[in-house]
Amino acid sequence: MTFLAIKNISKRYGPVHALDNIDLMVAAGSRTAIVGPSGSGKTTLLRIIAGFETPDAGQVMLQGETLADGEAIVPAHRRGIGIVSQDGALFPHLSVSENIGFGMERGARDRDQRINALIDMVELDRGMLDRRPHQLSGGQQQRVALARALGRKPRLMLLDEPFSALDTGLRENMRKAVARVLQIAGITAVLVTHDQTEALSFADQVAVLREGRLIQAGTPQALYLSPRDRETALFLGDAIVLSADLDKGSAKCVLGQIPVDADNRQGRTDVMLRPEQLRLSAIDEAGARAACIGKVTEIEFGGAVCAVTVVLSNGSETLNIKSSGVGLPEVGSMVSVSVIGKAHVFDRLDA
Ligand SMILES: Nc1ncnc2c1ncn2[C@@H]1O[C@H](COP(=O)(O)OP(=O)(O)O)[C@@H](O)[C@H]1O
Ligand SMILES: [Mg+2]
Repeated sequence: MTFLAIKNISKRYGPVHALDNIDLMVAAGSRTAIVGPSGSGKTTLLRIIAGFETPDAGQVMLQGETLADGEAIVPAHRRGIGIVSQDGALFPHLSVSENIGFGMERGARDRDQRINALIDMVELDRGMLDRRPHQLSGGQQQRVALARALGRKPRLMLLDEPFSALDTGLRENMRKAVARVLQIAGITAVLVTHDQTEALSFADQVAVLREGRLIQAGTPQALYLSPRDRETALFLGDAIVLSADLDKGSAKCVLGQIPVDADNRQGRTDVMLRPEQLRLSAIDEAGARAACIGKVTEIEFGGAVCAVTVVLSNGSETLNIKSSGVGLPEVGSMVSVSVIGKAHVFDRLDA
């Protein structure tokens, strides 16, 4: 049995098709990230799972139990689902301890013990228990919100852009900490984010939403290396898209003859490479006999990863390549370009 099954969910707001026939399966104990640009329907989907919103059509099933079937629904507070939103939504007039204990029985003998265990779990100092939310940083508030949601022992945790208000370094730490906490607690999670790096590094399964439609779902690796179309490719990272002639698992393009991940496709189409699949090596102009050579026209130094612009000699194609900061070629020098791995062929659009 699928842990969480979302079947044919649709939702309209007036003329806006916020969700159009969404199907998504989530395995027990896994982490799913729903990623998509702003307005693509991510929050609507999460609110339907949580029970704050009713779908026009479709079902939500959790552990075999029907939570929503069209408009007939189990109310939110009976779903056993925790939710952490973008701003944490802590009660400002309550202490950290009261926030975390909110929803626990007042007189429960083990209340303090449980609150202590929860604050330890989200790696906050117990000295913070008496503070009010405004005396905490954004990251600390989010940890308290997570502890509060965990305190109710949810079957499923929903996270709606919980790290988006934090700055980069803190965000990465929080993401790792939250993943760790969920894993230890064995709680299945669905994270919504518009940040593709966050989605790729947090999740076992990534689902891409666009204009209310689920474009593709799969492992982070599968989506990054085998995106369904050009738009998904570019949404998930930088991509080099080249026009090519396919034949027997190989593509003829400006980079020469390169292997592709579709053995049975023929004819003219676009193929995609991630910029880190290209390697540059120095050559001198006279000795240039490599399959593909070009001239370095620009380098944007970025430390560990640098952007090198190469104009190919056999045409006017310009490539933006990611290269390590070590042993960078010089601007104006000639380089040979080789490909690591296979180029990806997009799904046939008429398929
Ligand atoms: N309560 C609502 N009333 C009217 N339109 C809404 C409402 N909630 C969301 N929408 C619309 O539905 C679409 C999807 O919104 P949302 O799910 O919030 O997207 P995301 O979280 O991906 O940014 C948007 O066009 C948004 O304007
Ligand atoms: Mg949203």
